[in-house]
Amino acid sequence: MSKTDPTSTNKMNDESYLHGYTSVEQERLRHQARFTEQSIYRNLDLTGIDRLLEVGVGVGAQSEIILRRYPEIKIVGIDQNDAQLASAQQSLDSIPWAKGRYELSKMDATSMDFESHTFDGAFICWVLEHVPTPERVLSEVRRVLKKGGRIFITEVMNHSFFLEPYSPNVWKYWMALNDFQHEQTGDPFIGAKLGNLLLAQGFTDIDTRVHTWHFDNRNPDKRKLYIEFWTTLLLSAKDHLLKTGTIDEETVQQAQKELRQVAKDPNAVFYFSFMQAQAVR
Ligand SMILES: C[S@@+](CC[C@H](N)C(=O)[O-])C[C@H]1O[C@@H](n2cnc3c(N)ncnc32)[C@H](O)[C@@H]1O
Repeated sequence: MSKTDPTSTNKMNDESYLHGYTSVEQERLRHQARFTEQSIYRNLDLTGIDRLLEVGVGVGAQSEIILRRYPEIKIVGIDQNDAQLASAQQSLDSIPWAKGRYELSKMDATSMDFESHTFDGAFICWVLEHVPTPERVLSEVRRVLKKGGRIFITEVMNHSFFLEPYSPNVWKYWMALNDFQHEQTGDPFIGAKLGNLLLAQGFTDIDTRVHTWHFDNRNPDKRKLYIEFWTTLLLSAKDHLLKTGTIDEETVQQAQKELRQVAKDPNAVFYFSFMQAQAVR
């Protein structure tokens, strides 16, 4: 299915989701949310929002953080996948501060069941990159936001990734991952386009900010942690890329070897930037 094909379905199907829905992946999402919490929430201010729509709620890992940081907020989380929603339900059910403050629904973000003008805010984190038609998600979010409601998006900019020392098989793997996502399921470069996308849907007061994880000899402990985090993130797409013939086993083996070498290299550098966008309806 090509995302540019107008007859294609808006909804990414379960088989085409790059990271998959295994319990290992669900745990990775939880770890990712905790690991990146400071980076993501340092620049967000959800104060004043009563009812927040969380699009692509996944396993509820971001919901847990939002409910903890903003005791007044109530979240309505949607996701297209049953396994994610079941996992989110189980995890949020066990958290005292979440009690009575969240609802979860199975819904496709490109065609929501909500009435127009329902929410004060919308939060979307690492989701639009996986959607073939992100403009439809933004159009739907705008529809269901109240006038003056705010949207908060965090997204990848995969063109920004850099690793020292040079690791040819990691690049081969990375380019294959990006090509696959770009051709089949979404847009790994969407971060840089958020301003245009929001403007096209009629949002105002658009603010985009680039944030960078750049670690070298000045901070070897953090560098080590980010290389580990990134290795797990890269490999979470391995099975899908192998199954679809996008990459071969030998490249995966060599890429893993290179990543282990980078982790041990005394002069390693890790660099990646992501985008945060905010706008008003
Ligand atoms: C990488 S996960 C991110 C989950 C969560 N936002 C987080 O940061 O932990 C992306 C999630 O978006 C969901 N998703 C992708 N396309 C969707 C769509 N069209 N409608 C609803 N959910 C979607 C996937 O099922 C998956 O759970």
